[in-house]
Amino acid sequence: MHASVVGSGYVGTTVAACLADLGHDVTAVDIDEEIVERLNAGEPPIHEPGLDPLVSAYGGSSLEATTDHGAVAETDLTFLAIETPANDDGSIDPAALLAAAEDVGEAVADKDDYHLVVVKSTVLPDVVEGELVPAIERAAGKTDGDELGVAVNPEFQREGSAVDDFMSPDKIVLGTDGDERALDRLAELYQPLVSDWDVPVVETGRREAAMIKYANNSFLAAKISLINDLGNVCKEFGVDAYEVADAIGMDDRVGERFLRSGVGWGGSCFGKDTAALAAAAREAGYEPSMLEAAREVNDRQPERMLELLDTHVDVSGERVAVLGLAFKPGTDDVRNSRAIPVIEGLQERGAEVVAHDPNAVENMRERFPEIEYADAPEGPLEGAEAALIVTEWEEIVELDAEFDRMETPVVIDGRRAIDRREGLVYEGLTW
Ligand code: UDX
Repeated sequence: MHASVVGSGYVGTTVAACLADLGHDVTAVDIDEEIVERLNAGEPPIHEPGLDPLVSAYGGSSLEATTDHGAVAETDLTFLAIETPANDDGSIDPAALLAAAEDVGEAVADKDDYHLVVVKSTVLPDVVEGELVPAIERAAGKTDGDELGVAVNPEFQREGSAVDDFMSPDKIVLGTDGDERALDRLAELYQPLVSDWDVPVVETGRREAAMIKYANNSFLAAKISLINDLGNVCKEFGVDAYEVADAIGMDDRVGERFLRSGVGWGGSCFGKDTAALAAAAREAGYEPSMLEAAREVNDRQPERMLELLDTHVDVSGERVAVLGLAFKPGTDDVRNSRAIPVIEGLQERGAEVVAHDPNAVENMRERFPEIEYADAPEGPLEGAEAALIVTEWEEIVELDAEFDRMETPVVIDGRRAIDRREGLVYEGLTW
């Protein structure tokens, strides 16, 4: 097939490269000329494990990039993979997505045969039906069903394993409202995954598909918040939350994954998606208590970490080490990282913050230019009164003996990264 992908950010680039690897011809469209040049030269514009070999193999050949939206008319279907930034109230701003959708609509206006537009971006059901579909229809001068189809096919790709998650997903969700032509096209596109890997396909409505993405992320975020809430109770009772989690994870109905309690979730999805869903629910007249509670518990975890620190040292005027800045290991992304409220809390207490992260220093420097950054993981420990572990990078897990460099080695561990041992004043957040 010949697919086009509009938007070459994190999701779009991964989707385009993976589709090329499945044997399809792919046209990537982006307004940024530098991104287009890089893709055509075989260089990915983002860093993601497994992406380099794909883009270098197909970039400029079966994966061609262009700034011209008109190119989508030559393809069988077009993915919209445009970011939807959050407004201050948590709702999403679909302006860039709608503009891209209109460009695609205009491009297919004169096309004689059927064209399918596939929404990859994360958008709420009402935005799809009330704004996106009408925008495409208006620009194309056609109505949905009249040589034009719109489907919703959300992504479930984690940063750091986005290529693997695309190639062997738990499920493929196709929201088509039963449009046979849309289903046929998407079935052909994903056929290698379905036949080689037995990936289950969920055929559903567009509104349901859009909601599945939000519900999926909300469920995961709430699962972590529930284990954090229980973990806080465990800590009060002197109980090890990890031993409790190991046992309850053996119940298939609970499942063992996403039960690591600590300083909470970060990243570009959980915070944004739970906020957008809660805002839309409230707008619709429903107060989403569990979603709000999940967000509240997550906001509380960094505070709990700092309160545990307060029980051991007054950090005012003291040097404090922050180990790990990325929202999780394996990425340089600091969006919604728990390190941000941790550093803010230390600054409020008058501490002198010195931080290390193997990948994310440059991104965090934009947020906190005033703090000190150390090149080596043990760097922040020299002369520090306390160390706070925020991200469980391997080099931080392996630091162990280095904590003795501190005068009174107080370690507050937000990720169960190291073991409690003699010689350390060690506090686990939930153990
Ligand atoms: C997430 C979803 O997993 C993915 O399906 C979706 O498409 C995008 O959002 P991502 O944000 O890349 O992916 O990260 P993920 O690996 O899910 O971790 C999110 C956060 O939760 C991290 O900050 C991580 O440290 C934290 N986490 C995860 C926990 O605190 N405990 C856990 O048990 C698991």
